[in-house]
Amino acid sequence: MKKKPLVGILMGSDNDYGIMSETGKALKQFGIPFEMIGSSAHRTPERTATFVRSAKDKGIKVLIAGAGAAAHLAGVVAAETTLPVIAVPIDATAMRGLDALLAMVQMPAGIPVATMAIGKAGARNAGIFAAQIIASGDESLALKLEDYKREMAAGVVKKAELLQKRLQEDGLA
Ligand code: RP5
Repeated sequence: MKKKPLVGILMGSDNDYGIMSETGKALKQFGIPFEMIGSSAHRTPERTATFVRSAKDKGIKVLIAGAGAAAHLAGVVAAETTLPVIAVPIDATAMRGLDALLAMVQMPAGIPVATMAIGKAGARNAGIFAAQIIASGDESLALKLEDYKREMAAGVVKKAELLQKRLQEDGLA
């Protein structure tokens, strides 16, 4: 049987999936069940509100909204819930995601949205950040996050050692 989702992910368009799949991959890595839907703040406002209003009762703990252009999705989601909302700005227009970033990050006082970086890094971080929120009440998930950080640091040290080797080979160290 499929596990109940702990994270709800909305994206403004199917064209956002190439970026938002990174969020899904990060959550999968930590074993966190999630539900992902396409729904727009502007084109399908009712669908968006219905999904968000039912999220808490379904057991969802965190909502993530990815959108580009005049990206109101995360703000609209936050307006409908007291669950924490994470925003992922997407590079979808000639403004390269800066439009979405500003729309998401400049929320008025009273309606917080945790805005990540533009694009794939932000989408991955949204998944990790959701895991960190959930881990505050889940010790085994907290341990997984600690392992992840340790492995990441070990990978960086390994690459730094290889870099030193290359510098020596090139006579630059
Ligand atoms: C936003 O407008 C979506 O999140 C998408 O990033 C952007 C463009 O949407 P499409 O015209 O590609 O469907 O609502």
